Amino acid sequence: MRESDASRPAGRPDTVETDLLLWWEDFYLPVFEYVLPKMGTLEGKKVLELGTGTGGTATLLAKQGASVVGIDLLPFRLAEAKERATQHNVADAVNFCLMDATQLAFPDNTFDVVISKSVLVFTAHTQTARECYRVLKPGGKAIFIENMRNHPAVWLYRKMWLKYSRKLHYFSVRDIETVGAEFNTLEHREFHLFAVGALFWQKGIPIPAFYRWTLRHLNTMDAYLLRRFPKLKNLCWITAMICHKT
Ligand SMILES: C[S@@+](CC[C@H](N)C(=O)[O-])C[C@H]1O[C@@H](n2cnc3c(N)ncnc32)[C@H](O)[C@@H]1O
Repeated sequence: MRESDASRPAGRPDTVETDLLLWWEDFYLPVFEYVLPKMGTLEGKKVLELGTGTGGTATLLAKQGASVVGIDLLPFRLAEAKERATQHNVADAVNFCLMDATQLAFPDNTFDVVISKSVLVFTAHTQTARECYRVLKPGGKAIFIENMRNHPAVWLYRKMWLKYSRKLHYFSVRDIETVGAEFNTLEHREFHLFAVGALFWQKGIPIPAFYRWTLRHLNTMDAYLLRRFPKLKNLCWITAMICHKT
């Protein structure tokens, strides 16, 4: 879903600008369409983004009215993130700081929402979850969008091409539940089973319309299969966890 600045109501959290989702945008679109409405209106809310990278998510949320703090361990990423927020005219609404997600320098009960995308795979899950719980206000939510471990094709790709992936802590459904156990309640949804196959079309037959058509239909098939056979979620590529602090 693309919207121009003029047509986007401030504070409405269910719109996604795909250019801010960075790489794999088509794959993260349904994930963000699932998680953004879970945040409720963002106007005036305090949001912490762990591992902000180049700041796409922080900028997206600031554009929807949130006051965002983005943290990362890499100073050059923080500089890129700041530049990005400036380009989108939300530099005043975003603060970027060098900080470790496992040792947050914020007081208890500070944020309405904590969010991260592809970050907990780099950190100790439980320690990070405990820190997020601590800095969340009662009634707040931590949203972790993470990469899963057991998708056969993704597993093979990582094994062959991503040597550093051996050191990462990819998620199984059990790991999702372990993180959720640090909060009061957990809901989670998994994405992309056969839809990952669209990547092969994208590379092999570079016709964008054909790729998007394939992806849409594979997504529909995945949704049906995951409803019918819930155990298949352990074989998905991406998970979105919504963890509540009551
Ligand atoms: C795969 S990138 C994802 C970046 C961004 N969230 C996105 O989706 O584009 C992971 C980011 O997490 C950061 N990171 C890794 N470990 C971290 C930690 N312990 N504390 C804060 N940031 C961390 C890395 O520096 C990197 O920018």
